[in-house]
Amino acid sequence: MNNSITFNDNDDNSNNLTNKRRGSPTPLRSLNRISVKFDKPPPLPSHTITLGENSVLSLACSFDHLFSGSQSPNIQVWNLKTFRQIAVLKGHSGSIFCLKLSKDHKMLFSSSGDGTVRVWDTKLLKCLYVIQSSHDVGDLFSVVYSDSLETLYIGCQNTSIQSFDLSIKEKYKASQPFYSCKNSKFFDSILTSTSSSTSLVSSNEIIINTTEERSCIRRINEYEREGEGGEEEGEEEEEEMETVERYEIDDSLVYLNSHNGYVYALELGKTKNGEILMSGSGDGDVKVWSIKKNSMELLKVLKGTDAGILTLALYDDLIFCGAQGGDIKIYDLETYQHVRSLMAHDDDILALVFRGSNLFSGSADGTIKRWSKNFEILDTFRDHKGIILSLALTPQSDMESSSDNSNLWLISGANDQLIKFWDLPVLAMTLEGKIEEESTTDMMLYALSKWISLQTVSGKLKYLEECLRGAKYLKSIFEQLGAAESFLIPNGNPGKNPIVFGKFVGIDDELSSYKLPCQYCKKKTNILVYGHYDVIDADETKWNSDPFEMFGKDGYIYGRGVSDNKGPMLATIFAASELQQEKKLKANVYFLIEGEEESGSVGFYEAIKKSKDLIGEIDVIFVSNSYWLDDEIPCLTYGLRGVIRSTIEITSSHTDLHSGVQGGAVSEPLNDMVRILSKLISKDNSILIPGFYDKVRPVTSSEQQLYEPLVELKIREKFNNKFDMSQNQSINDSHHIHNLTSSEFQKLQNREKLMARWRYPSLTIHKIDVSGPNNATVIPCKAKANVSMRIVPDQDLNVIVKDFQSYVKSIFETLKTENDLSITIDNKTDWWLGDIGSKYYKATEQAIEQEWGIKPLYIREGGSIPTVKLLEKEFNAVTVHFPMGQSTDQAHLNNERIRLQNLFKGKLIFKSLFSKLGDEF
Ligand code: BES
Ligand code: MN
Repeated sequence: MNNSITFNDNDDNSNNLTNKRRGSPTPLRSLNRISVKFDKPPPLPSHTITLGENSVLSLACSFDHLFSGSQSPNIQVWNLKTFRQIAVLKGHSGSIFCLKLSKDHKMLFSSSGDGTVRVWDTKLLKCLYVIQSSHDVGDLFSVVYSDSLETLYIGCQNTSIQSFDLSIKEKYKASQPFYSCKNSKFFDSILTSTSSSTSLVSSNEIIINTTEERSCIRRINEYEREGEGGEEEGEEEEEEMETVERYEIDDSLVYLNSHNGYVYALELGKTKNGEILMSGSGDGDVKVWSIKKNSMELLKVLKGTDAGILTLALYDDLIFCGAQGGDIKIYDLETYQHVRSLMAHDDDILALVFRGSNLFSGSADGTIKRWSKNFEILDTFRDHKGIILSLALTPQSDMESSSDNSNLWLISGANDQLIKFWDLPVLAMTLEGKIEEESTTDMMLYALSKWISLQTVSGKLKYLEECLRGAKYLKSIFEQLGAAESFLIPNGNPGKNPIVFGKFVGIDDELSSYKLPCQYCKKKTNILVYGHYDVIDADETKWNSDPFEMFGKDGYIYGRGVSDNKGPMLATIFAASELQQEKKLKANVYFLIEGEEESGSVGFYEAIKKSKDLIGEIDVIFVSNSYWLDDEIPCLTYGLRGVIRSTIEITSSHTDLHSGVQGGAVSEPLNDMVRILSKLISKDNSILIPGFYDKVRPVTSSEQQLYEPLVELKIREKFNNKFDMSQNQSINDSHHIHNLTSSEFQKLQNREKLMARWRYPSLTIHKIDVSGPNNATVIPCKAKANVSMRIVPDQDLNVIVKDFQSYVKSIFETLKTENDLSITIDNKTDWWLGDIGSKYYKATEQAIEQEWGIKPLYIREGGSIPTVKLLEKEFNAVTVHFPMGQSTDQAHLNNERIRLQNLFKGKLIFKSLFSKLGDEF
């Protein structure tokens, strides 16, 4: 079918210089509007949740939560903003086939393979009561709830439809729990049937026609794999749930043999004569029932073929029936006429949902399709590797959002054990009265995904243009978010990336708006945020997803730069912008986001010196470019090591030579190199440069105390294994000498490890390169090694550089060699220590505690940021370093990620901080 949307892209002046695969987002699309005019990529899920072991049989979505049911007896509850599992509803002892919500979302109904329906309180996330039948009904495939009749209708495997009026439930208290149908013969017969041609024998004298088998087995065959584990859990819970009230469906409200097959689908509707219920069955028929309180009457049988009806959806007067084999049959409810059949999919249709006039169909062929009102396919969603078993939509709020989740998603569950969230455009009226599709995706994540797709790798010339795009995109974000000013500050060095400047201006306080003399006005706090938009390169063959296409999974987003440093920077920019929109921004917030941090911030200092006047006085600098100590407790960082990066090169006057021909007769550069490198560090890991440790600040007892809360934590275990401290003689000695208890020893070890990472210097030989063809018969004429040293208070950067150079030269001079030595210093970055006593650290601590409910840990870091000390000196201001990401973010490594919850909370922390700093400082 033809797509009705046109793709002629008027505004597209893309020169397609960049990787076409990603369709580099040039031109930069508007932040707040996705126009269908632009190139329309195939729909991709914006997030995926992995269940790990069960097919997703059922889904229901409220404003804040997604409920999912599987073959396991538990219902999972997910937070729709962070995609984290927030609860498990336990109580059922069989698969959860159907989940429905009451209109007000206060109640959740779950129908199960254990033959019961449970009613849950969606706020307390507790089971309110259980509804059971006095009959062995088998699986309860479908449930619907009529809010007006306060009645539940249940579609059963034993071909009955049963109803239960919640308003008079007290009359039907059950004395004892209904036996579990799991143990019944009837059930077993289904479980052991695997081939669709096998006739299902039923001990309950139910005629199961063969057309039904296939889908039944489809839908249930995963059941076979249901391990004892699931059942055990169920049993355990049953004991716990004994206090929950049980009610029994009155026999008079059991409509036995309502169909000649399983009742797979129920749907409610209204006609001019009142409420109706529609039922779809494996027998291929759809029946329409008139329903009233405590009675139900058959109005019409819509006779089908032998393809069973597996799912139903209603739109206006049309009823859409998803059938076995892949057809969607459409009937008119007024005339009961068969309007048409769509050959929609290649296999059974197991889920149908409507959003406005758009129909979504999910099929056993693994795809989901979006249909227009005229039955044209608008989109095909392919990402699941398995049968689509369930679909849901995030509700659209009529009220001005009752929750902060404004995302609009189609949510799909499949037997690949995944739940996927697909962004949906919403139809909105423009100012000119035109209807346009508008995105409701979280703006921050949308902007981040665009920014991540720009490969802003600094230090490699081939990415120079892409870096400029990255910088311009950031500038456009500032503009679109209402920044007072935003421009690029060129980097004075050729081939180096510009700095992006952005400025949000705080509102004047009341007094100043009355134009009172300025001594009465509060001075606005001037905040400077420093960060970087450049990233480390990524080898996509080593990633699980494309590093430059943001990918969401299990509450994390993956992509190069999501944590270091694009994610935290965007969260901070959005914090300032949102505060400004809410008219709560009182401080001025300046942003300097550079493009050379990963390459040593070349040109930054000169560029800032030149444009310092634009910024003026600064009270405090914020940086958010490091990580927590573990994955649980938020941190504040108060120290960074410095770094000196160098290249040692040894060159011979010869060319590359054959070792068999010339070996023994020449001085070999690599031999010299090995000798030099071997003298840099001793076997017990101390650095051999004379005087290297002289200025390292001794540990005071007050400093030791800062480590106390950290060493107490269990979290050390994680890196206990990573670092081998057996080399450290002093620790082993003290264990021995002082005869410490093992926990004291453990603590000491932990402290030493942290100190080794954060407050002691280190030296690393990163790599050795040689000239020539790199085979084992050649004497390379050149050897090159990269050596770096991390330096700490109070080592003097320049003194260490000089000492290092003269030490290497002195070793070289002792060698009997004809070769030449050169030492290049590639980067010099000073260490930094923050002032944890400052009021800004206190304010940040409070903001973190308020958001996370726990005080942050004060930590240092072993990494380096070249600009921090420079900025402090230049602006005579203190820096607060608030890391957003967790220790497992994998910055600089493969599969870099950041937890969504951390980004959202990071934004909120900066919001509260920025508003507070305006008020009290
Ligand atoms: N975010 C890091 C700094 C960092 C690293 C903080 C490790 C905490 C732990 C920054 O982006 C970075 O990678 N810095 C480089 C500096 C170098 C390029 C001058 C580093 O530490 O190696
Ligand atoms: Mn980095």
